[in-house]
Amino acid sequence: MAKHVCPYWVGYLLSNRLRKLLQGPSRVLGPYVKPDVAVLDVGSAMGFFSIPMARMVGPGGKVVCVDLQPKMLDVLARRAAKAGVSDRIETHVCSSASLCLDGREASFDFALAFAVLHEVPDQARCLGELHRLLKPGATLLLAEPKSRVTTAEFEQTVACAREMGFAVSKRPYIRSARAVLLTTAMT
Ligand SMILES: C[S@@+](CC[C@H](N)C(=O)[O-])C[C@H]1O[C@@H](n2cnc3c(N)ncnc32)[C@H](O)[C@@H]1O
Repeated sequence: MAKHVCPYWVGYLLSNRLRKLLQGPSRVLGPYVKPDVAVLDVGSAMGFFSIPMARMVGPGGKVVCVDLQPKMLDVLARRAAKAGVSDRIETHVCSSASLCLDGREASFDFALAFAVLHEVPDQARCLGELHRLLKPGATLLLAEPKSRVTTAEFEQTVACAREMGFAVSKRPYIRSARAVLLTTAMT
């Protein structure tokens, strides 16, 4: 079933000052994103989290940003150049049915899916893809806005993630969001 997709212009609003106070990228992601790791940002939009993650991984790391909307990724690429982190950011346009990252299985240490799963028509398929793209023992931070996703809907997503092979490791507190930290098995 087709889902509402955040319009392109909303991408500009996602980087506002209030959000930086509520969901500051260093506070939200600092515990998980370390130097030299490979990170996947699904539904990255214009890079509210991707650009800070590119700073966190440093010159030896990589942040792969995937989004449905090429215009979001164009702005992200310009912002990355301005921030001096283009060398470690890759952008990929995907389809609503697939992340289109064939050949990159088991290559990411950490993935972020922030405020995107509720826009994805087939969550099971997307979570299955994410599971395959992550290395053994890797982590996915899944967060959804409280304003759009009820507790029951979020728990359905978490149950679906479990069915796809993820284990729940933690329920981190993120203001205005429902969040879960998921891990893949070590082997
Ligand atoms: C509400 S925005 C959140 C952006 C960003 N993660 C953040 O928190 O600032 C959702 C983004 O997910 C993208 N999106 C929607 N469906 C998608 C899908 N099936 N695969 C990848 N990206 C998708 C939209 O184009 C939009 O840029």
